[in-house]
Amino acid sequence: MTFTDLTDLKRRGEKLAVLTAYDYPTARLLDESGIDILLVGDSLGMVVLGFPDTTHVTMEHMLHHTAAVARGVQRALIVADLPFASYDTPEQALANARRLLAAGAHAVKLEGGTSHAGRIAALTAAGIPVMAHLGMLPQSVREEGGYKLKGKTPEAAAALLADAHAIENAGSFAVVLELVKADVAQRISTALSIPTIGIGSGPACDGQVLVTHDLIGLFPWFTPKFARQHAQVAAAIRTAAAAFLHETKSVI
Ligand code: KIV
Repeated sequence: MTFTDLTDLKRRGEKLAVLTAYDYPTARLLDESGIDILLVGDSLGMVVLGFPDTTHVTMEHMLHHTAAVARGVQRALIVADLPFASYDTPEQALANARRLLAAGAHAVKLEGGTSHAGRIAALTAAGIPVMAHLGMLPQSVREEGGYKLKGKTPEAAAALLADAHAIENAGSFAVVLELVKADVAQRISTALSIPTIGIGSGPACDGQVLVTHDLIGLFPWFTPKFARQHAQVAAAIRTAAAAFLHETKSVI
């Protein structure tokens, strides 16, 4: 899979399947299963490292997990998140994006629209492919006061559309739309030539992304409403642990 393949897929109406991965075995399994893009998301802070939100994730965390994912992947594109406060200036964005690429990522993702177009342009000019992220921005969850649906008023929808044009013009190769009202996500998907990848943003996006832990039931303490669970791994772990516990304790 190359970056131009992605725009070709959109032109042909083929959808993109994107899942998060944070470790070698999961990355290898998802890659072998044919998933198009593996996102080393900063969601790792919540579902792997146990932080309350993604603002606690550092560059060191991202480098460690990106390298593990890269060791498991042969064909999928690997996109790594630039974590909170790691891209406050174009220079900082460039330096940290280069570190993620050196760890094995093929591209980086950052959160923000028009306000971040300059940073996206600087990365793109340096040959670093950028996936943008609009709608609900988890790194701003504290200011936003929670994970809320975006684009509910005509003004908010127009601002999202303007952001989408800004990040495309700045050179992004794709954009995540998180918790964007479905009809607004549809309008953005039609307006852009780069693929939109939705999460909780309806079926009209050019692809869908999920946190793998939500897909496979590995984080049972919270599952977003939009996530369809296709396995119950937490339950399987509990069953196996109980069996081992019983087996071990019952030997006299
Ligand atoms: O960090 C992450 O996993 C993400 C997805 C939710 C898109 O940004």
